[in-house]
Formats: sequence, structure tokens, C-alpha cells
Amino acid sequence: MTIGIIVGSIRHGRVGTRVGQWVAEQVADSAFDYELVELADWDIPFATTEVIPAMAGGTYDDPRVQAWADKVAGFDAFVFVTPEYNRNVPGPFKNAFDSVAEWKGKPVTFVAYGSGGGRAAIAGWRTTVTGLLAMDPTASDTALTLGREGAVLDDAASRQLRTAIAELEGKLS
Ligand SMILES: Cc1cc2nc3c(=O)[nH]c(=O)nc-3n(C[C@H](O)[C@H](O)[C@H](O)COP(=O)(O)O)c2cc1C
Repeated sequence: MTIGIIVGSIRHGRVGTRVGQWVAEQVADSAFDYELVELADWDIPFATTEVIPAMAGGTYDDPRVQAWADKVAGFDAFVFVTPEYNRNVPGPFKNAFDSVAEWKGKPVTFVAYGSGGGRAAIAGWRTTVTGLLAMDPTASDTALTLGREGAVLDDAASRQLRTAIAELEGKLS
């Protein structure tokens, strides 16, 4: 069982990389395998294809989308590391989600960050992932306060994450 930690910001100088690394550190002793994926390393075009991904049967016209779909297909569950942009999920991350259907039915948890803990991004993701692709989100999540030095990664943050990760892994057991 492999769980993908998806860092969903593609901004230069993004806070998300440190948050993703922190998640990887926190789960290092887990019985499950985790892999950190930087969305910025993937060249995913805006979704323009006529075929709706959920109807594509796993075969995509664009090789860049196919590569992304194959990557997503290799994971059994996900940790979405997500900033909040304008009170919602980041556009490039949403496009990466919309472009393929290989998320379908899989468990997911959210590690969000923002001035208000990224709560609006989490709310957006909860609506999105439980739609057509019927993912299985954890009830618990991790909402990190964003300070001058980036996301606050303290003991309270670790406790939130451990609760959410235990719930996520429980869905795979
Ligand atoms: C386009 C844009 C919109 C933003 N909107 C919000 C917001 O709605 N709420 C919030 O708390 N922070 C907001 N921010 C601030 C981000 O939380 C902050 O820049 C954070 O570092 C973004 O994560 P990243 O560095 O991993 O991209 C916004 C930032 C950008 C670039």
C-alpha cells in the first residue's frame, strides 16, 4: 500500500514544499509506504479534452496527462497538502485533480495552511472529492496556521496530523 503526499502549490518559493516534507517526516515510522509528489514537477496542461476523464477508461490523449494518471493510479490513498487561494483550493491543483479519474473511491486526508488554517481550502476539497469521483475523505484533517516563517509546525500540528493519518491508514487496513 502506497500513500501519495501531493504538494499542490506550484508557486516559486512555495511554503508547500516544507509542509510536504514535514508530513513525510511525521509518517516516517508508519507501516505504510509514503511518497512525496511535488505537483510542480508535473507538466499537466489545462483540461481541454472532449472526453470526460471519468469516461476515459484510464486512457488519455495527451501523454502528459497519461503520465499523471499513471502516477495517481499507483497510489492507494492520498494526503493533499494544500494552500488556500482566494478562499478555495489552488487552481493548478484543481486542474490536476480534474484532469484524471484515478482518484476514484480512494481515501484522502487534507493538510491545509493559510491565515485561518486553510479551512476554506479544506471545505472546497471536501466538496470536490466527494462528487463524481466519490473519494473517501477522513473526518479529521490538519489545519495549519500560516505565520511569517511559514506554516506553524508545532506539537499541536503534529497531534492533528497523527489523528488524521491514523484515520487514513485505518481506511486501508
Ligand atoms: C493567489 C493567492 C490567493 C491567496 N488567498 C488566500 C486565502 O484565501 N486565504 C489565506 O489564508 N491565504 C491566502 N493566500 C496566502 C497564502 O496562504 C500564502 O501565500 C501561502 O504561502 C501559499 O502557499 P504556497 O506558498 O505553498 O503557495 C493567497 C495566496 C495567493 C498566491
